Amino acid sequence: MTMRPPSPQDGREVWQLVKQSPVLDLNSTYHYILMCDYFRDSCVLAHHGTQLIGALIAFKHPRQRETLFVWQIVVDPVARGRGLAGRMIDLAIQQTGCTWLETTVSPSNHASRHLFESWAQHHSAKLTDAEGYPAAWFKSTHEHEPLLRIGPIATQAKKQQGAEK
Ligand SMILES: CC(C)(COP(=O)(O)OP(=O)(O)OC[C@H]1O[C@@H](n2cnc3c(N)ncnc32)[C@H](O)[C@@H]1OP(=O)(O)O)[C@@H](O)C(=O)NCCC(=O)NCCS
Repeated sequence: MTMRPPSPQDGREVWQLVKQSPVLDLNSTYHYILMCDYFRDSCVLAHHGTQLIGALIAFKHPRQRETLFVWQIVVDPVARGRGLAGRMIDLAIQQTGCTWLETTVSPSNHASRHLFESWAQHHSAKLTDAEGYPAAWFKSTHEHEPLLRIGPIATQAKKQQGAEK
């Protein structure tokens, strides 16, 4: 298994992977190509051989550069439950140097909620809930998207300093 930032040519495969997870909002291939291009430094793809098995699509908050916003994270059903999602988040945090993570998780997505709770706990970071985006702003079938904020997250350098004390 390998993990790396995407290139724009990966957008179509990311779209395919997201399409396999009906729980996620599927956007256009163009949207994934753009994300894989303009936000490549904050995104992570995981491959098993040549097969794409995981994707994390995220970007640095435009007004709070220390915050990474995780927009979509998806793992191929056959590769779930082995810590891959957590490792992709670790790499995105490492790549960006961000010390805060934000995401929205719809109330019915227990796997996603559990992932971020577990990740925060693992990193000894606090998780707080905020209002996010109300259901009324979306099309009729879309749930409320509460915002989760996790941090502060110790950077690799800070962890090392702590270990040396
Ligand atoms: C959510 C998702 C990315 C998790 O991927 P994963 O690689 O299986 O996650 P991990 O193995 O890193 O597990 C992380 C934690 O989440 C928990 N978890 C994973 N799937 C779960 C599920 N279906 N129900 C409850 N908890 C779950 C794991 O038990 C683990 O917790 P632990 O550390 O306490 O054991 C994956 O289930 C997925 O792709 N789901 C569909 C897309 C989606 O909902 N994305 C999130 C919203 S953008």
